[in-house]
Amino acid sequence: MKSMAAYREHFPIFKNTVYINSCSYAALSLEVEAAFLRYLKDRHEVGADWIGWCDRLERVRGLFAELLSAKADEIAVTTSASASLSSISSSLDFSGKRKKIITTDLAFPTEAQAWHALKKYGAEVVHVKEKDGMIDLDDLERLVDDKTLLVAVPLVCYRNGALADIPAIRKIARNKGAMILVDAYQGVGAVPIDVNEWDVDFIVGGSLKYLLSTAGVGFLYVREDLILKSNPTQTGWFAQEDIHAMLIHDNIPAQSARRFEQGTPSVPNLYAVEAGLKMILEIGVNNIRTHVSALNERLKKGVAEIGGKLSSPINPENHGAMITVASTDEFALVEKLTEEGIVASCRSGNLRISAHFYNNNDDIDAVIDGLAKNKKLLA
Ligand SMILES: Cc1ncc(COP(=O)(O)O)c(C=O)c1O
Repeated sequence: MKSMAAYREHFPIFKNTVYINSCSYAALSLEVEAAFLRYLKDRHEVGADWIGWCDRLERVRGLFAELLSAKADEIAVTTSASASLSSISSSLDFSGKRKKIITTDLAFPTEAQAWHALKKYGAEVVHVKEKDGMIDLDDLERLVDDKTLLVAVPLVCYRNGALADIPAIRKIARNKGAMILVDAYQGVGAVPIDVNEWDVDFIVGGSLKYLLSTAGVGFLYVREDLILKSNPTQTGWFAQEDIHAMLIHDNIPAQSARRFEQGTPSVPNLYAVEAGLKMILEIGVNNIRTHVSALNERLKKGVAEIGGKLSSPINPENHGAMITVASTDEFALVEKLTEEGIVASCRSGNLRISAHFYNNNDDIDAVIDGLAKNKKLLA
């Protein structure tokens, strides 16, 4: 494998910017740029390449499967994490005694909204509280019962970087026979995921953050033995067993997780996603996690030295790639850092600093210097 420093050379933005904002949008690699250009070239040369596009969709499905150690048949390629969540929510059945959906106060809005929208079908939605910025497992244990259909948790919280303890959550949910969904968007590509170890029911995510590419492509993992028991009403011709059957008098969903898809895939973006996923798989998510953890230890130490306060959990096992720093005016702080050539982002009173494999110690030192110059904006 090439060094992380060599990979950094593939990202032109680092020539003049300290880009440390992968929790929002990844830096653009030369490979992803070339993939977008390839799409335009193919349009000139081939025109409407439906067979080629479908082949590419299958390749992307295979790469998502490899990333999660899943089977390709357990993956639906969607158009966003929100689309994945809507597709799952449209398949839930409230005719039995299980009507409770448990989400958390750490949820990304879409994830919670997907369940609240189901109240018109009789769903009861409850929220697990947070404790010290993490999912309160005692509160979860108190809420889960034999009327619980689904427990949904974020792998990494989008506003404070907290990393969920998936085995502990699975144990609590399974004890009462509830299904488990993980919104992995803020982790996938930076935190290792192995569906065989996790043993959860659904995982959703998308491509524009740590997977290096673009908006327009999400994914959904559905555990194999749940696929045929799930009948999404949010559907379409790409979800059919035979896409070419052009059925109008019936709905015959695919035997695989493809039944959670809908219409024509997001073709230009599939080119980019394939290039992004290939680079992540080439480097390896375990290597990425090790590299980013070292950067984050340096960052946490530097923030403490200048008197800043972390709002993300301090223990490295309890946070993802993103570290957050409490601010009195997070928008002003982002602007001040931008003036210093540093790109970060913010949410809910926190500055979000999210390194990836392409970041290095110099980036971290630049962020610490930038924060030191703006101490009055630190909470
Ligand atoms: C944790 C999490 N879930 C879901 C989403 C929404 O993703 P999409 O816009 O692809 O629906 C985001 C976007 O930032 C996110 O951070």
